[in-house]
Amino acid sequence: MDAIGFATGNTNPGTFPTEAFAEAARRAVSDLTVGLNTYPGDLGHEGLRMLMARREFDREGVAVDPGHMLVTNGSMQAIMLATDALRDGRDDIVVMEEYCYVGTIRAYRESGIEMVGVPLDERGMRMDALADTLNRLADDGRKPRFIYTLATYQNPTGAVLPTDRRLRMIELAREHDIPIVEDNCYGDVHYDGDKPPALYALDDDPRQIYLCSLSKIFAPGVRLGYLVARPPMLERIVAKRMDAGPNTLASAVTHEYLRDRLWEHVEMANVALRAKRDAMVDGLRRHLGNECAVTNPPGGLFVWVRLPDDVDPGAFRAVGNRNGVDVAHGSDFHVRGDAGPFIRLAFGFPGLDEIEEGCARLGRSLRETRDSAS
Ligand SMILES: Cc1ncc(COP(=O)(O)O)c(C=O)c1O
Repeated sequence: MDAIGFATGNTNPGTFPTEAFAEAARRAVSDLTVGLNTYPGDLGHEGLRMLMARREFDREGVAVDPGHMLVTNGSMQAIMLATDALRDGRDDIVVMEEYCYVGTIRAYRESGIEMVGVPLDERGMRMDALADTLNRLADDGRKPRFIYTLATYQNPTGAVLPTDRRLRMIELAREHDIPIVEDNCYGDVHYDGDKPPALYALDDDPRQIYLCSLSKIFAPGVRLGYLVARPPMLERIVAKRMDAGPNTLASAVTHEYLRDRLWEHVEMANVALRAKRDAMVDGLRRHLGNECAVTNPPGGLFVWVRLPDDVDPGAFRAVGNRNGVDVAHGSDFHVRGDAGPFIRLAFGFPGLDEIEEGCARLGRSLRETRDSAS
């Protein structure tokens, strides 16, 4: 078997609807003569916005105006549009979970934004630590531009912030007069348990910004995400958009495919992903033994593993690569690049047999890393 990749949060090629998507493309393109010969506008494809507004209403029970939504080139573009609208250019601080999505960390590092990390536990960002962080910054006369949070199926830890913590976060943000940017990239990649409402369904702050994606529940290659915000915040964000709008072709074809089967598609994708999650958790527990702490995430695409203290994650990853399996190093997800004894494993793309074989290779790699250190 070739090298097995557990490093990147790709989706499941086994559930990609190639035939039905090709059919949708044929139907969508036959209607696109005007759409493809004109610029899409800042908000993007209206049908897709209406469909995604319905997705949000069905999930959260809160109406979203499709006129307050921007379709973006993946949610990564939405992250940067929100950031550009809220930053000042000098002394920009963002408060966020100390372990966080690597794309945001890299973008903020490159943009000179200071990231202040708040510790997490198995239930997401700790609110006592958030309160301390905000008070300390206020004592220093420094006001963060916003709180960036991955409250549901946090990347990399998989944690879900419970409702009481969500309400506390909203309260703290209000006390300190700071907007919240909620990144719900994994919102519908759900396997078990109850899911608390999104922060935007609990908060009526007119500055709230909500981001979501089609990458994880449909396909990252379509590069479609979206941002929801109300005026005047919406206008501040639109003013930062310089790309003449999102891709009409991708939007129209994806809309045509999903419009009558969004939840059917989500359910079908989640059933297959849940089986992969189970295979990954089971394989890791058998092959790594109980010295490693392995999460069992209720949603999302990642298992977060705490290695034994005597195993360096970098050395383990290098041995894993020699044995034909790749993992992501925990330090990539830390706002200060702190190592910590963690690795992250993505289970969306590999097949079930590759997951079993990859876990066996990781077990071998753990033993070899230890042997070479002793
Ligand atoms: C938390 C989070 N936000 C945003 C993104 C960006 O995704 P995309 O631009 O494909 O929507 C990712 C991708 O992995 C992510 O994990």
